[in-house]
Amino acid sequence: MPLSQALAYLKDNSDRFLAELEAFLRIPSVSTTAEHKDDIARAANWVADNLRAIGARKVAVYPTAGHPVVYGELPATRENAPTVLVYGHYDVQPAEPLELWENPPFEPTVRGERLYARGATDMKGQVMASLKAVEAAAHAGLPVNVKFVIEGEEEIGSPDLAGFIAEHKDLLAADVCLNPDSGMLGADWPTITYALRGLAYFELRVYGPEHDLHSGIYGGVVHNPAQALAELIAGMHDENGRITLPGFYDRVRPLSDEERKALAKLPFDPTAFYLKQTGVPQLWGEPEYTPIERTGARPTLEINGLYSGFIEEGAKTVIPSYAMAKISCRLVPDQDPDEVAGQLKAYLKAHAPATIRWELDVMAGAPASVTDIHTPAVKALAKAMEDTWGTQPFYRREGGSIPVVGQMQQILGLDSVLTGFGLPDGNLHAPNENLHLPTWRKGMEALVRFFFAL
Ligand code: BES
Ligand code: MN
Repeated sequence: MPLSQALAYLKDNSDRFLAELEAFLRIPSVSTTAEHKDDIARAANWVADNLRAIGARKVAVYPTAGHPVVYGELPATRENAPTVLVYGHYDVQPAEPLELWENPPFEPTVRGERLYARGATDMKGQVMASLKAVEAAAHAGLPVNVKFVIEGEEEIGSPDLAGFIAEHKDLLAADVCLNPDSGMLGADWPTITYALRGLAYFELRVYGPEHDLHSGIYGGVVHNPAQALAELIAGMHDENGRITLPGFYDRVRPLSDEERKALAKLPFDPTAFYLKQTGVPQLWGEPEYTPIERTGARPTLEINGLYSGFIEEGAKTVIPSYAMAKISCRLVPDQDPDEVAGQLKAYLKAHAPATIRWELDVMAGAPASVTDIHTPAVKALAKAMEDTWGTQPFYRREGGSIPVVGQMQQILGLDSVLTGFGLPDGNLHAPNENLHLPTWRKGMEALVRFFFAL
Protein backbone atom coordinates (compact mmCIF):
# COMPACT_ATOMS: atom_id res chain seq x y z
CA MET A 1 0.00 0.00 0.00
CA PRO A 2 1.57 3.32 -1.05
CA LEU A 3 -0.13 5.17 1.84
CA SER A 4 1.31 2.93 4.54
CA GLN A 5 4.67 3.02 2.77
CA ALA A 6 4.59 6.84 2.87
CA LEU A 7 3.58 6.87 6.54
CA ALA A 8 6.39 4.46 7.39
CA TYR A 9 8.82 6.77 5.57
CA LEU A 10 7.67 9.66 7.80
CA LYS A 11 8.43 7.61 10.93
CA ASP A 12 11.80 6.37 9.67
CA ASN A 13 12.97 9.88 8.82
CA SER A 14 11.48 11.74 11.75
CA ASP A 15 14.86 12.72 13.32
CA ARG A 16 16.24 14.02 10.03
CA PHE A 17 13.09 16.09 9.42
CA LEU A 18 13.51 17.74 12.82
CA ALA A 19 17.19 18.45 12.10
CA GLU A 20 16.23 20.05 8.78
CA LEU A 21 13.61 22.22 10.47
CA GLU A 22 16.21 23.35 13.02
CA ALA A 23 18.62 24.32 10.25
CA PHE A 24 15.86 26.35 8.56
CA LEU A 25 15.01 28.06 11.87
CA ARG A 26 18.64 29.12 12.36
CA ILE A 27 18.31 31.56 9.46
CA PRO A 28 16.96 34.86 10.88
CA SER A 29 14.80 35.65 7.85
CA VAL A 30 13.01 38.69 9.29
CA SER A 31 11.26 40.42 6.39
CA THR A 32 10.48 43.82 7.82
CA THR A 33 13.99 45.23 8.40
CA ALA A 34 16.63 45.88 5.73
CA GLU A 35 19.40 44.49 7.94
CA HIS A 36 18.18 40.91 7.28
CA LYS A 37 18.24 41.10 3.48
CA ASP A 38 21.07 38.54 3.24
CA ASP A 39 19.27 36.20 5.63
CA ILE A 40 16.15 36.46 3.50
CA ALA A 41 18.19 35.46 0.44
CA ARG A 42 19.76 32.60 2.42
CA ALA A 43 16.34 31.33 3.52
CA ALA A 44 15.00 31.48 -0.04
CA ASN A 45 17.99 29.48 -1.31
CA TRP A 46 17.63 27.04 1.57
CA VAL A 47 14.02 26.34 0.54
CA ALA A 48 15.08 25.96 -3.10
CA ASP A 49 17.79 23.45 -2.08
CA ASN A 50 15.29 21.51 0.00
CA LEU A 51 12.88 21.41 -2.95
CA ARG A 52 15.66 20.05 -5.17
CA ALA A 53 16.51 17.48 -2.50
CA ILE A 54 12.95 16.10 -2.48
CA GLY A 55 13.03 15.78 -6.26
CA ALA A 56 11.24 18.94 -7.34
CA ARG A 57 11.63 20.25 -10.90
CA LYS A 58 11.63 23.79 -12.29
CA VAL A 59 13.00 24.95 -8.94
CA ALA A 60 13.68 28.68 -9.10
CA VAL A 61 14.13 31.67 -6.84
CA TYR A 62 12.18 34.45 -8.53
CA PRO A 63 13.27 37.97 -7.63
CA THR A 64 10.54 40.55 -6.98
CA ALA A 65 10.68 44.25 -6.13
CA GLY A 66 10.94 43.02 -2.53
CA HIS A 67 11.90 39.55 -1.30
CA PRO A 68 12.10 36.56 -3.67
CA VAL A 69 9.47 33.89 -4.26
CA VAL A 70 10.60 30.25 -4.39
CA TYR A 71 8.93 27.83 -6.76
CA GLY A 72 9.23 24.09 -7.43
CA GLU A 73 6.95 21.30 -8.63
CA LEU A 74 6.65 17.52 -8.47
CA PRO A 75 4.55 15.51 -10.95
CA ALA A 76 2.13 12.79 -9.93
CA THR A 77 3.07 9.24 -10.84
CA ARG A 78 -0.33 8.70 -12.46
CA GLU A 79 -2.36 10.32 -15.23
CA ASN A 80 -5.13 12.88 -14.71
CA ALA A 81 -4.18 13.60 -11.13
CA PRO A 82 -5.35 16.88 -9.56
CA THR A 83 -2.83 19.64 -8.88
CA VAL A 84 -2.29 21.04 -5.40
CA LEU A 85 -0.57 24.38 -5.07
CA VAL A 86 1.09 24.45 -1.65
CA TYR A 87 1.60 27.92 -0.21
CA GLY A 88 4.11 28.87 2.44
CA HIS A 89 6.23 31.76 3.66
CA TYR A 90 9.87 31.58 4.73
CA ASP A 91 9.94 35.02 6.37
CA VAL A 92 9.36 35.57 10.07
CA GLN A 93 8.42 38.38 12.43
CA PRO A 94 11.12 40.25 14.36
CA ALA A 95 12.16 38.41 17.53
CA GLU A 96 12.37 41.45 19.82
CA PRO A 97 12.19 41.85 22.82
CA LEU A 98 15.10 39.40 22.97
CA GLU A 99 15.47 39.45 26.75
CA LEU A 100 12.10 37.72 27.15
CA TRP A 101 13.25 34.59 25.29
CA GLU A 102 14.42 31.58 27.29
CA ASN A 103 16.76 30.61 24.45
CA PRO A 104 18.07 32.84 21.67
CA PRO A 105 15.26 33.00 19.08
CA PHE A 106 17.40 31.76 16.19
CA GLU A 107 18.98 28.92 18.16
CA PRO A 108 16.16 26.37 18.07
CA THR A 109 15.92 24.48 21.35
CA VAL A 110 13.79 21.49 22.33
CA ARG A 111 12.32 21.62 25.84
CA GLY A 112 9.85 18.89 26.69
CA GLU A 113 7.64 18.23 23.68
CA ARG A 114 8.17 21.65 22.16
CA LEU A 115 10.68 23.25 19.82
CA TYR A 116 11.32 26.92 20.64
CA ALA A 117 12.44 29.38 17.94
CA ARG A 118 11.14 32.36 15.98
CA GLY A 119 9.18 30.92 13.05
CA ALA A 120 8.76 27.45 14.61
CA THR A 121 4.98 27.69 14.26
CA ASP A 122 4.59 30.74 11.98
CA MET A 123 5.44 29.15 9.70
CA LYS A 124 8.70 27.36 9.02
CA GLY A 125 7.36 24.31 10.87
CA GLN A 126 4.37 24.27 8.54
CA VAL A 127 6.53 24.77 5.45
CA MET A 128 8.70 21.84 6.50
CA ALA A 129 5.63 19.71 7.27
CA SER A 130 4.43 20.28 3.69
CA LEU A 131 7.84 19.64 2.11
CA LYS A 132 8.39 16.47 4.13
CA ALA A 133 4.83 15.17 3.60
CA VAL A 134 5.41 15.54 -0.14
CA GLU A 135 8.82 13.89 0.17
CA ALA A 136 7.21 10.93 1.97
CA ALA A 137 4.31 10.67 -0.47
CA ALA A 138 6.71 10.89 -3.44
CA HIS A 139 8.77 8.06 -1.96
CA ALA A 140 5.69 5.86 -2.30
CA GLY A 141 4.53 7.34 -5.63
CA LEU A 142 3.03 10.83 -5.60
CA PRO A 143 -0.76 10.60 -6.10
CA VAL A 144 -1.22 14.31 -6.99
CA ASN A 145 0.76 16.96 -8.85
CA VAL A 146 2.27 19.34 -6.34
CA LYS A 147 3.46 22.91 -6.92
CA PHE A 148 5.12 24.90 -4.17
CA VAL A 149 5.06 28.66 -3.92
CA ILE A 150 6.98 29.86 -0.86
CA GLU A 151 7.21 33.63 -0.45
CA GLY A 152 9.27 35.94 1.76
CA GLU A 153 6.95 38.87 2.45
CA GLU A 154 3.89 37.45 4.21
CA GLU A 155 4.71 39.07 7.51
CA ILE A 156 4.77 42.50 5.84
CA GLY A 157 1.49 41.99 3.97
CA SER A 158 2.71 40.22 0.78
CA PRO A 159 3.09 43.50 -1.17
CA ASP A 160 4.79 41.89 -4.21
CA LEU A 161 3.01 38.56 -4.32
CA ALA A 162 -0.08 39.66 -6.26
CA GLY A 163 2.22 40.87 -9.05
CA PHE A 164 4.10 37.57 -9.05
CA ILE A 165 0.87 35.56 -9.19
CA ALA A 166 -0.52 37.69 -12.02
CA GLU A 167 2.70 37.24 -14.05
CA HIS A 168 2.84 33.47 -13.51
CA LYS A 169 -0.76 32.35 -13.94
CA ASP A 170 0.14 29.34 -16.07
CA LEU A 171 2.95 28.21 -13.82
CA LEU A 172 0.64 28.37 -10.79
CA ALA A 173 -2.43 26.81 -12.42
CA ALA A 174 -3.91 24.31 -9.95
CA ASP A 175 -7.13 22.75 -8.71
CA VAL A 176 -6.75 23.81 -5.12
CA CYS A 177 -4.34 25.69 -2.88
CA LEU A 178 -3.26 24.08 0.38
CA ASN A 179 -2.40 26.82 2.87
CA PRO A 180 -1.06 25.57 6.21
CA ASP A 181 -0.44 29.05 7.69
CA SER A 182 -3.33 28.77 10.16
CA GLY A 183 -3.47 26.67 13.33
CA MET A 184 -5.34 24.20 15.56
CA LEU A 185 -7.72 24.78 18.46
CA GLY A 186 -5.79 22.27 20.57
CA ALA A 187 -3.51 19.24 20.28
CA ASP A 188 -6.49 16.87 20.11
CA TRP A 189 -8.64 19.16 18.00
CA PRO A 190 -7.70 19.15 14.32
CA THR A 191 -9.00 22.31 12.74
CA ILE A 192 -9.89 23.63 9.31
CA THR A 193 -10.06 27.42 9.04
CA TYR A 194 -12.74 28.79 6.73
CA ALA A 195 -12.39 32.53 7.24
CA LEU A 196 -9.60 35.02 7.85
CA ARG A 197 -9.71 38.68 8.65
CA GLY A 198 -8.11 41.24 6.37
CA LEU A 199 -5.83 44.09 7.34
CA ALA A 200 -5.33 47.80 6.76
CA TYR A 201 -2.17 49.22 8.36
CA PHE A 202 -1.32 52.90 8.90
CA GLU A 203 1.26 55.21 10.37
CA LEU A 204 -0.19 58.45 11.74
CA ARG A 205 2.24 61.31 12.44
CA VAL A 206 1.24 64.41 14.37
CA TYR A 207 3.45 67.52 14.25
CA GLY A 208 3.27 70.33 16.79
CA PRO A 209 5.94 72.99 17.39
CA GLU A 210 8.97 72.99 15.04
CA HIS A 211 11.18 71.70 17.88
CA ASP A 212 10.73 70.45 21.45
CA LEU A 213 9.77 73.24 23.85
CA HIS A 214 10.23 74.05 27.53
CA SER A 215 6.90 72.97 28.97
CA GLY A 216 6.97 75.77 31.54
CA ILE A 217 7.51 78.56 29.06
CA TYR A 218 5.11 77.23 26.43
CA GLY A 219 2.73 74.98 28.38
CA GLY A 220 -0.78 76.44 28.08
CA VAL A 221 -0.36 78.06 24.69
CA VAL A 222 0.83 75.20 22.50
CA HIS A 223 -1.29 72.08 21.90
CA ASN A 224 0.93 69.15 22.82
CA PRO A 225 1.06 66.77 19.79
CA ALA A 226 1.21 63.73 22.10
CA GLN A 227 -2.01 64.91 23.71
CA ALA A 228 -3.59 65.70 20.32
CA LEU A 229 -2.69 62.22 19.07
CA ALA A 230 -4.07 60.64 22.24
CA GLU A 231 -7.31 62.61 21.82
CA LEU A 232 -7.64 61.49 18.21
CA ILE A 233 -6.99 57.87 19.12
CA ALA A 234 -9.38 57.97 22.07
CA GLY A 235 -12.15 59.12 19.75
CA MET A 236 -11.73 56.17 17.39
CA HIS A 237 -13.84 53.90 19.65
CA ASP A 238 -17.04 54.63 21.53
CA GLU A 239 -17.76 53.41 25.05
CA ASN A 240 -19.08 50.09 23.70
CA GLY A 241 -15.91 49.29 21.82
CA ARG A 242 -17.37 50.22 18.45
CA ILE A 243 -15.19 51.98 15.90
CA THR A 244 -16.29 55.50 15.04
CA LEU A 245 -14.70 55.98 11.60
CA PRO A 246 -17.47 57.20 9.28
CA GLY A 247 -19.03 54.31 7.33
CA PHE A 248 -16.73 51.72 8.94
CA TYR A 249 -19.50 49.14 9.49
CA ASP A 250 -21.43 49.81 6.28
CA ARG A 251 -20.03 46.76 4.48
CA VAL A 252 -19.58 44.45 7.46
CA ARG A 253 -21.38 41.23 6.62
CA PRO A 254 -23.51 40.11 9.59
CA LEU A 255 -23.15 36.60 11.00
CA SER A 256 -26.09 34.29 10.33
CA ASP A 257 -27.85 32.73 13.33
CA GLU A 258 -26.80 29.35 12.01
CA GLU A 259 -23.13 30.32 12.03
CA ARG A 260 -23.38 31.89 15.49
CA LYS A 261 -24.80 28.60 16.76
CA ALA A 262 -22.00 26.61 15.14
CA LEU A 263 -19.31 28.91 16.55
CA ALA A 264 -20.84 28.63 20.03
CA LYS A 265 -20.32 24.85 19.87
CA LEU A 266 -16.52 24.99 19.49
CA PRO A 267 -15.02 22.80 22.20
CA PHE A 268 -13.42 25.48 24.23
CA ASP A 269 -14.21 28.16 26.72
CA PRO A 270 -13.03 31.28 24.91
CA THR A 271 -13.23 33.61 27.91
CA ALA A 272 -11.07 31.32 30.05
CA PHE A 273 -8.68 30.79 27.15
CA TYR A 274 -8.16 34.47 26.39
CA LEU A 275 -7.77 35.35 30.08
CA LYS A 276 -5.18 32.61 30.61
CA GLN A 277 -3.30 33.34 27.38
CA THR A 278 -3.07 37.08 27.95
CA GLY A 279 -2.95 37.59 31.70
CA VAL A 280 -5.27 40.62 31.46
CA PRO A 281 -7.61 41.21 34.43
CA GLN A 282 -10.74 41.33 32.26
CA LEU A 283 -11.67 40.99 28.58
CA TRP A 284 -12.78 43.94 26.50
CA GLY A 285 -14.86 44.43 23.36
CA GLU A 286 -18.32 44.71 21.85
CA PRO A 287 -20.64 43.26 24.49
CA GLU A 288 -23.22 41.89 22.06
CA TYR A 289 -20.72 39.51 20.46
CA THR A 290 -18.95 36.52 22.00
CA PRO A 291 -15.13 36.53 22.12
CA ILE A 292 -15.02 33.97 19.28
CA GLU A 293 -17.25 36.19 17.15
CA ARG A 294 -15.26 39.28 18.05
CA THR A 295 -11.93 37.78 17.00
CA GLY A 296 -13.26 35.95 13.96
CA ALA A 297 -16.05 37.95 12.42
CA ARG A 298 -15.90 41.52 13.76
CA PRO A 299 -13.49 44.22 12.61
CA THR A 300 -11.09 45.98 14.98
CA LEU A 301 -8.90 49.04 15.20
CA GLU A 302 -5.69 48.60 17.19
CA ILE A 303 -2.83 50.82 18.25
CA ASN A 304 0.29 48.74 17.52
CA GLY A 305 2.76 51.31 18.73
CA LEU A 306 2.95 54.83 20.11
CA TYR A 307 5.87 57.19 20.20
CA SER A 308 6.36 60.72 21.43
CA GLY A 309 8.70 62.88 23.45
CA PHE A 310 10.97 61.95 26.32
CA ILE A 311 10.93 58.21 27.10
CA GLU A 312 14.35 57.78 28.75
CA GLU A 313 15.14 57.36 32.44
CA GLY A 314 14.38 60.33 34.68
CA ALA A 315 12.24 63.40 34.05
CA LYS A 316 12.46 66.09 31.41
CA THR A 317 9.95 68.92 31.23
CA VAL A 318 9.20 69.20 27.55
CA ILE A 319 6.46 69.66 24.98
CA PRO A 320 7.50 67.29 22.20
CA SER A 321 7.41 68.47 18.62
CA TYR A 322 6.15 65.18 17.26
CA ALA A 323 4.01 62.13 18.04
CA MET A 324 3.41 58.97 16.06
CA ALA A 325 1.09 55.96 16.19
CA LYS A 326 1.04 52.74 14.19
CA ILE A 327 -2.61 51.87 13.71
CA SER A 328 -4.13 48.81 12.11
CA CYS A 329 -7.61 47.55 11.40
CA ARG A 330 -8.54 43.88 11.11
CA LEU A 331 -11.22 43.70 8.43
CA VAL A 332 -14.06 41.29 7.74
CA PRO A 333 -16.04 40.59 4.58
CA ASP A 334 -16.95 42.80 2.67
CA GLN A 335 -14.78 45.66 3.92
CA ASP A 336 -12.22 47.06 1.51
CA PRO A 337 -8.76 48.14 2.78
CA ASP A 338 -8.64 51.19 0.46
CA GLU A 339 -12.08 52.28 1.56
CA VAL A 340 -11.07 51.95 5.22
CA ALA A 341 -8.04 54.16 4.51
CA GLY A 342 -10.47 56.74 3.17
CA GLN A 343 -12.61 56.41 6.30
CA LEU A 344 -9.64 56.99 8.58
CA LYS A 345 -8.66 60.05 6.54
CA ALA A 346 -12.23 61.36 6.74
CA TYR A 347 -12.20 60.87 10.53
CA LEU A 348 -8.90 62.74 10.82
CA LYS A 349 -10.12 65.58 8.60
CA ALA A 350 -13.23 65.93 10.73
CA HIS A 351 -11.52 65.65 14.14
CA ALA A 352 -7.91 66.78 13.89
CA PRO A 353 -7.63 70.18 15.63
CA ALA A 354 -6.28 73.23 13.80
CA THR A 355 -3.46 73.42 16.39
CA ILE A 356 -1.42 70.60 14.82
CA ARG A 357 -0.45 69.19 11.42
CA TRP A 358 -0.88 65.49 10.58
CA GLU A 359 0.23 62.98 7.95
CA LEU A 360 -1.09 59.49 7.31
CA ASP A 361 0.84 56.73 5.54
CA VAL A 362 -1.10 53.72 4.29
CA MET A 363 1.05 50.61 4.70
CA ALA A 364 -0.09 46.98 4.20
CA GLY A 365 -3.58 46.16 3.00
CA ALA A 366 -5.37 42.86 2.44
CA PRO A 367 -9.06 41.97 2.21
CA ALA A 368 -10.68 39.33 4.43
CA SER A 369 -11.53 35.95 2.94
CA VAL A 370 -14.09 33.22 3.41
CA THR A 371 -13.71 29.77 1.87
CA ASP A 372 -16.29 27.18 0.93
CA ILE A 373 -16.05 24.13 3.20
CA HIS A 374 -18.11 21.88 0.96
CA THR A 375 -15.41 21.27 -1.65
CA PRO A 376 -13.74 17.92 -2.44
CA ALA A 377 -10.44 19.27 -1.10
CA VAL A 378 -11.91 20.23 2.27
CA LYS A 379 -13.62 16.83 2.45
CA ALA A 380 -10.31 15.11 1.69
CA LEU A 381 -8.52 17.09 4.39
CA ALA A 382 -11.32 16.41 6.91
CA LYS A 383 -11.06 12.68 6.19
CA ALA A 384 -7.26 12.81 6.48
CA MET A 385 -7.53 14.57 9.83
CA GLU A 386 -10.12 12.16 11.14
CA ASP A 387 -7.93 9.20 10.17
CA THR A 388 -4.96 10.82 11.92
CA TRP A 389 -6.50 12.15 15.15
CA GLY A 390 -9.46 9.79 15.41
CA THR A 391 -11.82 12.73 15.58
CA GLN A 392 -13.49 14.97 13.02
CA PRO A 393 -11.99 18.42 12.53
CA PHE A 394 -13.54 21.61 13.80
CA TYR A 395 -14.31 24.44 11.41
CA ARG A 396 -13.40 27.90 12.61
CA ARG A 397 -12.77 31.49 11.66
CA GLU A 398 -9.34 32.91 12.41
CA GLY A 399 -8.66 36.50 13.31
CA GLY A 400 -5.25 36.68 11.62
CA SER A 401 -4.64 37.63 8.01
CA ILE A 402 -2.98 35.83 5.11
CA PRO A 403 -3.03 38.13 2.07
CA VAL A 404 -2.36 35.36 -0.48
CA VAL A 405 -5.75 33.75 0.12
CA GLY A 406 -7.62 36.74 -1.28
CA GLN A 407 -4.99 37.31 -3.97
CA MET A 408 -5.39 33.76 -5.29
CA GLN A 409 -9.17 34.03 -5.21
CA GLN A 410 -9.06 37.27 -7.17
CA ILE A 411 -6.26 36.56 -9.65
CA LEU A 412 -6.45 32.80 -10.19
CA GLY A 413 -10.03 32.08 -9.10
CA LEU A 414 -8.41 29.53 -6.81
CA ASP A 415 -9.79 28.59 -3.40
CA SER A 416 -7.54 27.71 -0.48
CA VAL A 417 -7.89 24.97 2.08
CA LEU A 418 -6.60 26.50 5.29
CA THR A 419 -5.11 24.54 8.11
CA GLY A 420 -1.98 24.35 10.25
CA PHE A 421 -0.51 22.40 13.13
CA GLY A 422 0.55 25.10 15.57
CA LEU A 423 -1.31 25.37 18.89
CA PRO A 424 -2.99 28.44 20.39
CA ASP A 425 -0.19 28.76 22.97
CA GLY A 426 2.49 28.68 20.28
CA ASN A 427 3.33 32.37 20.94
CA LEU A 428 3.27 33.49 17.32
CA HIS A 429 4.79 36.96 16.88
CA ALA A 430 5.77 36.84 20.58
CA PRO A 431 8.74 35.72 22.69
CA ASN A 432 9.23 31.96 23.11
CA GLU A 433 7.41 31.00 19.93
CA ASN A 434 7.18 27.24 19.92
CA LEU A 435 5.99 24.19 18.01
CA HIS A 436 4.39 21.18 19.69
CA LEU A 437 6.36 18.40 18.03
CA PRO A 438 3.88 15.52 18.45
CA THR A 439 1.21 17.65 16.77
CA TRP A 440 3.65 18.66 14.04
CA ARG A 441 4.33 14.98 13.30
CA LYS A 442 0.60 14.23 13.21
CA GLY A 443 0.24 17.17 10.86
CA MET A 444 2.70 15.62 8.42
CA GLU A 445 0.77 12.37 8.61
CA ALA A 446 -2.48 14.22 7.93
CA LEU A 447 -0.96 15.94 4.89
CA VAL A 448 0.25 12.63 3.47
CA ARG A 449 -3.24 11.19 3.95
CA PHE A 450 -4.69 14.34 2.35
CA PHE A 451 -2.65 13.86 -0.83
CA PHE A 452 -3.81 10.27 -1.09
CA ALA A 453 -7.43 11.10 -0.22
CA LEU A 454 -7.61 13.75 -2.95
N1 BES B 1 0.08 32.74 10.26
C1 BES B 1 -0.31 34.10 10.43
C2 BES B 1 -1.80 34.33 10.27
C3 BES B 1 -2.61 33.62 11.29
C4 BES B 1 -2.47 33.93 12.62
C5 BES B 1 -3.51 32.66 10.92
C6 BES B 1 -3.20 33.27 13.56
C7 BES B 1 -4.25 32.01 11.85
C8 BES B 1 -4.08 32.29 13.18
C9 BES B 1 0.40 34.97 9.43
O1 BES B 1 1.75 34.64 9.25
C10 BES B 1 0.39 36.40 9.94
O2 BES B 1 0.76 36.64 11.04
N2 BES B 1 -0.06 37.31 9.13
C11 BES B 1 -0.01 38.69 9.41
C12 BES B 1 -0.38 39.31 8.10
C13 BES B 1 -0.27 40.77 7.96
C14 BES B 1 1.10 41.30 8.15
C15 BES B 1 -0.81 41.17 6.61
C16 BES B 1 -1.01 39.05 10.48
O3 BES B 1 -2.08 38.45 10.58
O4 BES B 1 -0.70 39.96 11.27
MN1 MN C 1 2.68 35.63 11.14
